[in-house]
Amino acid sequence: MATVYLDSPVSDDLRRASLYAGDLFAFSPSESAEALCALARELSTDAFAPHSPETAQEHMSPEDYVRILADLKPTFIHHPRAKEFIRSMFTERGCDVEKTYFDVPRLRTMAHGEYLSAGLAYQFHPHRDTWFSAPYAQINWWLPVYSIESQNSMAFHPAYFAKAVKNGSSDYDYDEWNRTGRQQAAQQVRTETRKQPSPEEPIELDPQIRVVTPVGGALLFSAAHLHSTVPNTTTRTRFSVDFRTVNLDDLADGSSALNVDGDCTGTTLRDFLRASDLEPLPEDIVERYDRPRGRSAVPTV
Ligand SMILES: [Fe+2]
Repeated sequence: MATVYLDSPVSDDLRRASLYAGDLFAFSPSESAEALCALARELSTDAFAPHSPETAQEHMSPEDYVRILADLKPTFIHHPRAKEFIRSMFTERGCDVEKTYFDVPRLRTMAHGEYLSAGLAYQFHPHRDTWFSAPYAQINWWLPVYSIESQNSMAFHPAYFAKAVKNGSSDYDYDEWNRTGRQQAAQQVRTETRKQPSPEEPIELDPQIRVVTPVGGALLFSAAHLHSTVPNTTTRTRFSVDFRTVNLDDLADGSSALNVDGDCTGTTLRDFLRASDLEPLPEDIVERYDRPRGRSAVPTV
């Protein structure tokens, strides 16, 4: 059974344990989260001017739209103010900035209708981030940049949290993806040709949980949750920001969600930076999780 906690005051230690068990945590708007979303809106407004970011897709070809995204997304990812706001969010939420590591924030867009369905606007079918070499101790933080509704939100499929799904993760290697797949994103406009892990059996999408927070609110969930993007049937493009965290103590002692079906290789842990000073994780910790091709999967318990 998954529980959705709203504005829970529990400590970060208890919250992580609960997230690893499949619970979701939603938070009302906070100053730093609002600032992060305001930055995303500011950059998006500049990029799509004179059009409104939420409706710009009605005024340009998908190719032109993707060209704008190809500039906008890295600008946001590497913006120094974004990292400052994220560090403040950790303080607001009781995370120890000496033990909390995060990877760069992503700005994501989900056009409405059939406009875009590949590359930089790829519509993710049900997946676990852990099929993409994310550690089982990863927590995802997700924030809507403009107001959202159920029809352009994200869905969780809690029945699968502890239930294996046949999937293509054994063909996914993070190092290989970095070398080839990532660079091709801007060329994938109308169809997605890159091989990505996906379910290889029918998925029962219901029961599903969708959480709608106001702008400046945040949703936290385990990277091991099966989740999907809801087909956007509204009249506005969805803009969201997300970033991921890991906690050093949990990586050291193996606390995490269970691996029920992941078989990918490599690890994303080298992308994570310490919140206090942007230092990377100690390499001896990363190596424990860096499963090379050919070694069998060991569930992280
Ligand atoms: Fe995901």
